[in-house]
Amino acid sequence: MIGIPEELTVLSLRRKPDFVDTPCVRSLCERAGFYAQAGYPVHFSGPAGTGKTTLAMHVAAELGRPVILVHGDDEFGSSDLIGGQLGYRASRVVDNFIHSVVKTEENVSKVWMDNRITTACKFGLTLIYDEFNRSRPEANNVLLGVLEERLLELPTCRSGDGYLQVHPEFRAIFTSNPEEYAGVHKTQDALLDRMITIKLGHYDPDTEASITSAKSGLPMDDAQRVVALVRSFRTMGVNHYRPTIRACIMIARLTALRNARATADDAIFREVCRDVLCCDTIKITHDGESVGEDRLEQLIQQACAISDPPAETTDRPAKTGARAVPSNGRRKRKSAVIHGAEDAPEAGLFAQAVELEAAGPPSIEGDPEGNL
Ligand SMILES: Nc1ncnc2c1ncn2[C@@H]1O[C@H](COP(=O)(O)OP(=O)(O)OP(=O)(O)O)[C@@H](O)[C@H]1O
Ligand SMILES: [Mg+2]
Repeated sequence: MIGIPEELTVLSLRRKPDFVDTPCVRSLCERAGFYAQAGYPVHFSGPAGTGKTTLAMHVAAELGRPVILVHGDDEFGSSDLIGGQLGYRASRVVDNFIHSVVKTEENVSKVWMDNRITTACKFGLTLIYDEFNRSRPEANNVLLGVLEERLLELPTCRSGDGYLQVHPEFRAIFTSNPEEYAGVHKTQDALLDRMITIKLGHYDPDTEASITSAKSGLPMDDAQRVVALVRSFRTMGVNHYRPTIRACIMIARLTALRNARATADDAIFREVCRDVLCCDTIKITHDGESVGEDRLEQLIQQACAISDPPAETTDRPAKTGARAVPSNGRRKRKSAVIHGAEDAPEAGLFAQAVELEAAGPPSIEGDPEGNL
């Protein structure tokens, strides 16, 4: 865009093809998008891996304006956000009007350069301030006037009267980790008071499975077993936040890349699970001994047990309106839909549902009306 300092990168975000849009994700995006369009700053707050940055990017893309991205940093001062006298301008005048006399005059002066918040306010961009509470509260003070009075206060050394009127199209989306996380600061109440905070936790099992499948290419039923395993493992931790969906995606991608299956009897899959989840298993100890790995094996057996259909079932003739099992013997099963599993001793319920489904009898799937 014309006038934007070359040093700053302005993003033109598009909806990602693998963005998963289940009802709960859609509801979050719609609410956030509506608040942002109405002019309110939106703040996604939650533990690691709960989708804050992805949602912020998606909502920004939907707003359809160019985006400027800032990552919170403890080292930030206000000049890192609004700008400062960061450059130099040098001028040199050589006066040779009288040929026997040469007069040279050199001037070096500091030049103000706008930084990201100033640029976003001036040109009406969408600001994504990711993990803003990693910056010290005093660095973020400049946002108080921007969000409320829509005035950005600037030092007088910048040309103008010291204030910049915020462009009407300017929008702001923030994300933050909980205060107890290492390296984050407590946010001033005045700033939080100016935003609409949407608290995020882990997605429901269906959404996690859809994301896992979309990001890995693993079939949905395999992805569901991976999610069931990770969720049951998560309940054993101290804060119930790890392992996150990232572990699901890692296990699923590696399983797919090695052409393995997410089943308890697949040695490669079990190996991948142990490696990805090992960092969390070592925290589970009994009498000073780590019991995490044994527990992990049990959970794999519970969440990922699957009994393949007997071979002869694939030979049964297909009835009208039914689809026969593919010749490779891998039956395509319907995905399990588990409502309310968030509140239940959840992973157990989910794993149980996956097991029930895995044990389901038909080798021929019914049509949507339930006819065979
Ligand atoms: N709706 C979604 N569609 C597709 N992938 C998603 C979705 N939500 C989250 N993810 C994936 O889940 C993972 C974690 O999401 P994200 O990085 O947004 O979490 P976060 O809350 O910002 O984590 P952190 O606090 O560690 O930065 C990423 O790999 C992301 O691509
Ligand atoms: Mg993030």
